[in-house]
Amino acid sequence: MAIEITPLPLPPSADASKFTDFGREVKGVNPGSLTPEQFKEIEQLLYKHGALLFRNVDLSPEQQYALTKAFDPASESYGHGNNKTESTKKSILHPDLKTIPRVPQVQLIGNGTVYNHEGLAEAVLKHPSHTTFHKTRVSEEDEARGFTRFYRWHIDAALYDLSPPKVTTLYGIDVPQGPRQRVRYDDGTGDELEVPLGTTAFVDGRTMFNILPPELKSVAVRSKVKYAPHPYVWMAPAHALSTGLGIESEGLEMSLDELPPWEESKIKVLPLLWKNPVTKQLHFQVHPCGVYELLIDPLPEGAKREGPYTLMMQRPAIAPKLVYPHDWREKDLVLFHNRGVLHTVVGAFTKEQVRAFHQCNLAASDDPVGPDAEDVKKWA
Ligand SMILES: [Fe+2]
Repeated sequence: MAIEITPLPLPPSADASKFTDFGREVKGVNPGSLTPEQFKEIEQLLYKHGALLFRNVDLSPEQQYALTKAFDPASESYGHGNNKTESTKKSILHPDLKTIPRVPQVQLIGNGTVYNHEGLAEAVLKHPSHTTFHKTRVSEEDEARGFTRFYRWHIDAALYDLSPPKVTTLYGIDVPQGPRQRVRYDDGTGDELEVPLGTTAFVDGRTMFNILPPELKSVAVRSKVKYAPHPYVWMAPAHALSTGLGIESEGLEMSLDELPPWEESKIKVLPLLWKNPVTKQLHFQVHPCGVYELLIDPLPEGAKREGPYTLMMQRPAIAPKLVYPHDWREKDLVLFHNRGVLHTVVGAFTKEQVRAFHQCNLAASDDPVGPDAEDVKKWA
């Protein structure tokens, strides 16, 4: 049977004209046992479309690890590393991850208590929510009325020592159903987005770049981002913006000498734009909460343009009409190009709403490639 693809179902909030390339549902193939030829086709589709959905999939942790690894055969350990060290304990990610003992590269994430799951007798899971991370929160009354927020827009990556994973696979096993929620941006714009309960929301990094005005494209193409050492420990005392798109400027980040031991050579300095290995398009790929410094190259000779620059360059691309909130069903497998999209956890569950997902991504064997000389000439 040939591989068949159809566009992802977009919510009414989405501007379909901005999603022509983004996201495909794939049918006619079993992602757990692809032939090498089928894998090649899937790999191309993923880099072209950013996210692929397979429905009604049976997938063991071993198969999920093998599928994820196929995108980068030299990769081996989980995207944040497999060793639980001092830095993992102090990290804001610590409570969110439970490792599958047989396949430590695959994590159990979700909400509520899960019993006898793939060798884990009992796992207490907590769906991360904005209430513990943002500077302000949706009031409890408003929460009861169904309002919520994006948690934290991000790329799945340690952003220290390890290279950002190429692909993340997310497999929905238990998916509690419940009333839809309304994401409030609370940034003075009045923006809101209706989403399914517990959605994972995606935006396309290409769109994030493409919709920038020329003066910000010029900055973007010349910029590199220096991430903090142990960024998830560094950001732990700080509070996020109401959009989940960075941290408030309150100076609460941990000082560099309070952090677990770190080395200058392991700090990640990555281009702000990452080049798609298949389409060669540029994706705006910044994990805003971990940014320590923005390093901007001077303009090339002959170019005159200058302009303001800020990480709010990312805000236009999370406008409600540009967000794809996935409506999870049990046995959904979503593959996403982690170097081409940004995503966030959304919403909140009650303790009784049990959700179990398997997530896998692998620290890549290389760093992402930035704009080449031609790109700089074109956009600077
Ligand atoms: Fe993630």
